[in-house]
Amino acid sequence: MGDIMDPMSKIFEEAKRNPKMKKKLKIKAAFTLLLSVMFLGVIFITVGTILASKHGSFIGMTQLDFLKLRSRYGLIMTALILIHLGMNWNILKKEIEFLMS
Ligand code: HEM
Repeated sequence: MGDIMDPMSKIFEEAKRNPKMKKKLKIKAAFTLLLSVMFLGVIFITVGTILASKHGSFIGMTQLDFLKLRSRYGLIMTALILIHLGMNWNILKKEIEFLMS
């Protein structure tokens, strides 16, 4: 099984039978999921900044409040993305090699 455009499904099937691989992929998946949920916050803060700049405030927060929140949230996102990037580093290296080949 597994579509040619979906090589990961084969790897996940293999991981179910390999405890070490399973643990590693589960940690990676948990981080990616956390990043996805946190991304909703990025959308909210971005839209909030725009609405607050248009109407003076949004849900009681001024544009400056949103911008302050945004810079702090950005730091958390940057940390999470760096971890995510670290966990995917080997794949990224292979992708770049592949792109250049
Ligand atoms: C909201 C932010 C992000 C989300 C939700 C997200 C989600 C994902 C998902 C679902 C995968 C595949 C599963 C996995 O490997 O865990 C992935 C892989 C990857 N991500 Fe992200 N990602 C985000 C941001 C980023 C950023 C900013 C970078 C680069 C700076 C990045 C670099 C990568 C790389 C290199 C891979 C592996 C590439 C591959 O599998 O082809 N990600 N990401």
